[in-house]
Formats: sequence, C-alpha cells, structure tokens
Amino acid sequence: MSIFMRAMLLVLCAMWILPELAHAKHARTTRHYKFNIKLQNVTRLCQTKSIVTVNGQFPGPRIIAREGDRVVIKVVNHVQYNVSIHWHGIRQIRSGWADGPAYITQCPIQPGQSYLYNFTIIGQRGTLWWHAHISWLRATLHGPIVILPKRHVPYPFPHPFKEIPIVLGEWWKADTETIINQAIQTGLAPNTSDAHTINGLPGPLHNCSAKDTFKLEVQPGKTYLLRIINAALNDEMFFSIANHTLHVVEADAVYVKPFKTNIVLITPGQTTNVLLKTKSKTPNAKFVIASRPYATGPASFDNTTAIGLLEYKKHSLSNPKNNKNLKLFKPTLPKFNDTLFAMNFNKKVFSLNNAKFPAKVPKTIDRHFFFTVGLGISQCSKNEACQGPNNTRVAAAINNVSFVMPNTALLQAHFLNKSKGVFTTDFPNNPPFKFNYTGTPPKNIMVSSGTKVVVLPYNSRVELVLQDTSIIGAESHPLHLHGFNFFVVGQGNGNFDPKNDPSKFNLVDPAERNTAGVPSGGWVALRFLADNPGVWFMHCHLEVHTSWGLKMAWIVQDGKRRNQKLPPPPSDLPKC
Ligand code: C2O
Ligand code: CU
Repeated sequence: MSIFMRAMLLVLCAMWILPELAHAKHARTTRHYKFNIKLQNVTRLCQTKSIVTVNGQFPGPRIIAREGDRVVIKVVNHVQYNVSIHWHGIRQIRSGWADGPAYITQCPIQPGQSYLYNFTIIGQRGTLWWHAHISWLRATLHGPIVILPKRHVPYPFPHPFKEIPIVLGEWWKADTETIINQAIQTGLAPNTSDAHTINGLPGPLHNCSAKDTFKLEVQPGKTYLLRIINAALNDEMFFSIANHTLHVVEADAVYVKPFKTNIVLITPGQTTNVLLKTKSKTPNAKFVIASRPYATGPASFDNTTAIGLLEYKKHSLSNPKNNKNLKLFKPTLPKFNDTLFAMNFNKKVFSLNNAKFPAKVPKTIDRHFFFTVGLGISQCSKNEACQGPNNTRVAAAINNVSFVMPNTALLQAHFLNKSKGVFTTDFPNNPPFKFNYTGTPPKNIMVSSGTKVVVLPYNSRVELVLQDTSIIGAESHPLHLHGFNFFVVGQGNGNFDPKNDPSKFNLVDPAERNTAGVPSGGWVALRFLADNPGVWFMHCHLEVHTSWGLKMAWIVQDGKRRNQKLPPPPSDLPKC
C-alpha cells in the first residue's frame, strides 16, 4: 500500500471513529430551548379567546433530551402576568434553583424579565412534563418532556415504531385567571371547565368541535408508544381506546412491570407510557379514544368526555367509497366515582425492579410522618366578603394547616438563613387532634393557617402516610412531591392502622413515582430518601385544592460533603 493510500485510510478511520470519541468525551450534551411566554388567540367551543402560551403553541412545545443531558431553557416573559415554569418530575439534584414553583424555589419572572432554567437529567428516562407553577396559568402553559435512554441503551420493552405524546387537558371558555381570582374573593368553589381535551382538542361531542378532534393515524401490525400526560387542572382522568389493549410500561419516568389494561387511570401530574399494538390487518372501522374524569369529591365537576379517533391508514388501493362506511367502535369507561377501579388499577403498578433498574426502597426509617389531607373551612377577615356561612371560605389543609404563600421565595430565605418572617419550621408531624378521619367529621372543621415547613437532615429515610379525611367530603387527592421520587409502599381504605398495616407494606418492588393518589376515604404510605438538598414543595395536584392551601414544603439540609450541598443561586434568579 502506498504511503498516500495509508494516509487516506488513516484519515477515513479517524473520521469514522472521531465523532463517537468526541461524543464519549462530552457524554453530556446540552439542549437549549427558548420559551417565549406570549398571548395567543385560540378558538375552541365556538369561541375565540386569548391564552397564555409558550411560543404561541397550545399545548406547548415538547422538550426532548436523553438521560444524562443538561437542559437549558431561557424563559422570557412577554405577558402581563408573573410567570414561573416547573419541570414536573425532574429530580433537580442540587439544582433546586431551577425547580420553578413560584415563591417556593424562586420569585416569579415578572413581565419583561427572563430566567435561565438550567438542570441535568440524572437517572431518569421516560415521560415527564413542564407547566407553569403560579396561580392557574398552567391551564394553558404546559407541554411534554421526553427523556430518551442514553445513546445505544434500549428500552426494556419492544422498540416502538412511533412515539406519540397524548396530553390530557381542560378547556375553559372564560379566562382562568379571572375564575380563580373570583373564587378566592368569594371563598366559594371556582367554576369547572367546559371541556376536556386530548392534545388540546375536545372532539365531536362538543359544539363547533368536530374539526377539533385529535386523530391518531396508525399502520396495522405496529407498536406505538403513547406518552400520556394528565395536564388537566382539576380532574383525574380515565383513558381508553375502543377494541385495543394498552400495555403500561412506565409511570412518572420510571419503568414498571408491564401490565395490560383496557383503561388507564391518570391523575393530574402523573405520566403513563403505554404500548399500543395495532391490529394485524387494516380493519373496516375507526376506534374512539375517550377520556373523562374519575371524580369522588363533594363538589361539582366537568363531566364531559373528550373524544379522539384512532384511524388505520387506508391502503392506496382501497376504494375511497368504503371509508364512509367504516364502523365506529366506542370504549366503555368506568363510572365517574369508581373508586374500586382506581384502587385496583393503582395496585397493578410495580417497579420493574431488575438488575439494571432496581427499586431502592428505604428499608429502615429515620423519620415517620402521618399527614391528614382534606378540606375544611377558614374564617375570613372582617374586610373580606366571603360567601361561605358566617363569612367563611372553603379551605384545604395538611394536618389542619392551610399553607399561606410567602411573599418571597422559601429557598432564598433558607439559603440566606433569613427565615424570620418568611416561614417557621414547626409543621406538625401528626394531626393536631385525632378523630375518625374517614367517619363522621368533627364539629369544628376550621383549619389553621401558616407558612410551615418540615426540616430533614440530609439523607433522612422518610416514611409518610397520607390520610384522606371526609371533612366536607372524602376525595381522592393526587399528592405530588417535588425533587424526589417516592415509593408507594402501601394503600388502603378507611383509617390507616399503624399496628397492622405496616406489616403489609411492599418493600420489594413498589411503584416509584412523583405523584400518587391518596385514595378517596383511604390512605397511602410513601417512602423516600431525602438525598437532595433544597426546599421541596408538596401539594395536591388538583389545582383548586392547591389554591385552597393543600400544600406544604420540606427543607432538606445540606450534607457534609461538597457534592451534598446546594450550590449558590444563579445570578439571574428573579427578584420579588
Ligand atoms: Cu406539577 Cu408543584 O407541580
Ligand atoms: Cu386534593
């Protein structure tokens, strides 16, 4: 071989190998996004209104990254509202400044201002989502986060032919900020939505909406991965596709033991990946995709059904006349308050728990907490005109404390050691008084209020039992914890029994999630390792309950080592 040829070969080899090397060296890719928060006119249900969007899109744009990537999103606020964005389910390990809940980890981004959210995705892959985390802006400010496995790492299930996000939402004809502001003034329940939506579209059961129907066009004999996100404000949703079985493979960006179901139950905040295997031959039919609420509470709710269509691509040879004669199959959904279905569905979710994806359930516990969650009432001050009996308002509380939002961010106050006048660390570990939580409510159903937190030393192993109360009415509450995944080690009906229930806990392969429903009239037991320093919000993901105060925060202290401490805030952290 001539020297020239050898040189050429070398160059060719280098060109072949180098990109891979370069990639291995900088295994961490950075993905940049720009979110312009701006108003956009959108027409639904025969009416046009101006909504707050990211880049004019509704639902919002999707973020795609791989496990291990750094994600940098510049959020620029062009609207008249204060805004903050939360990356729901992202662990934010030592990046709490980027978590997003307004007045918890940051002051909101004021009109005309911007903030650079900067975080790395560590040890997670699957579907999550982002949403506004202030007032009710997340009604229209939300979108998917798709986390692919690291390069060359396969899914632990058949590789899908296509992946499709399915964002469930709610649509109001009226302006949602007006609705929540009025409700806060009157102390009464806010108006419910006018429609549920699938990828922003309500479907043909609503006026003027036949054209606003989500269509899923598929080919026969293929496997599709549906990344289902419940972005609704106030409704847990059933989801089903007529004549098709769904294989659940992942929940809240954690792989689960695959299981089959015709109906998925998904609470606001949760994400569920399902495989959809299409029929081997194109059928002479269309299939309805339906979604409607699971609702257990005492208040009225939006009982409408969102409809989409699963359509098989016609082969080019088929007679176009036939298309009109396609049969339409509809799924059957459980009744609205089918708590038995909810219980059974949640009991089917187990961590995959294999060698690659072990379930690291804390086996011994340092701190035990027992929190009641539920509704109540609170007294309005003399200069308020609340319309509840005797100048009261509807409230919601954890351990009878209805959380009061501070005027400055808790994380800053904590980091600067300036908690005085901002928060106190006396959040109760147990309910202030005992009663039959799921029986006849006590006479006094007044809640107290305050900005109280629980302080946890770094690496505490925590067990938290959440007990629903039947005050005003039993209701399922999808509790969401920021900054962590927890293990759902147990759940049951009625009152938690501290003597007999713990022995039944699943400490082997429980579901690992960031949002779990506290069963209506029941309890759920969670465990997590507090290995992430910062201030972490925990709240019901039914936005109406959060507005009423069903929220609190955990402070996880720094550890001793340098890599166990929260770094200082970025220089562009918004000011209050
Ligand atoms: Cu998805 Cu604190 O929220
Ligand atoms: Cu709730």
